[in-house]
Amino acid sequence: MQVKIINHPLIQHKLSIMRDVNTGTKEFRELLEEISMLMAFEITRDLPLEDVEVETPVAKCKSKMLAGKKLGVVPILRAGLGMLNGIIRLMPAAKVGHVGLYRDPETLLPVEYYCKLPTDVAERDFILIDPMLATGGSSAAAIELLKKKGAKHIKLMCLVAAPEGVKMVNEQHPDVEIYTAAVDDYLNDHGYIIPGLGDAGDRIFGTK
Ligand code: PRP
Ligand code: URA
Repeated sequence: MQVKIINHPLIQHKLSIMRDVNTGTKEFRELLEEISMLMAFEITRDLPLEDVEVETPVAKCKSKMLAGKKLGVVPILRAGLGMLNGIIRLMPAAKVGHVGLYRDPETLLPVEYYCKLPTDVAERDFILIDPMLATGGSSAAAIELLKKKGAKHIKLMCLVAAPEGVKMVNEQHPDVEIYTAAVDDYLNDHGYIIPGLGDAGDRIFGTK
């Protein structure tokens, strides 16, 4: 199983609060944004830097800045939207695409209903975001869509993954690195991650 678990104490602490059934929509949303920012810190660790010269108030010095790699962030609607702000606050120059997918409750298969990506897809490195990687169907389909539109470098960032979802993405897209805060135990008969945190979209948007 190829997956990077980001087990920073702050992330693990905040995730535990999110899992709690008594955590309300406002706090859930805030925590997801905070965790996403912390995870983005880790996921961008390999961004290239270039040397620059900076004049401080007292002297000139050599320093480092991002080398201007083009980035794209793509939330899978709708729950992926909950991770977006935390990331673009850290990387305000990133372009944002959207992929709309929902999981059919009977078949558990993803149904596509929207796709809008930056025009220069082939030139960008993408971070695909969705808090839940359950069967893996939605993420695998979104990756397929991005690739069909020309994307060559994709990382998948989720919050909670099931082993089944990691396996599916590993098998279908071995080139895509998966980052998550936790890999849980298993999926129940309704395709929910156990122990998980319930329906992420409903908890973010207060629809249940
Ligand atoms: C949830 C979640 C993922 C998907 C994961 O979305 O946000 O996109 O399920 O399940 P999978 O790995 O088995 O495909 P959902 O279909 O509930 O839509 P929503 O975000 O609109 O609530
Ligand atoms: N989607 C969710 O929001 N939660 C799960 O546990 C599985 C899929």
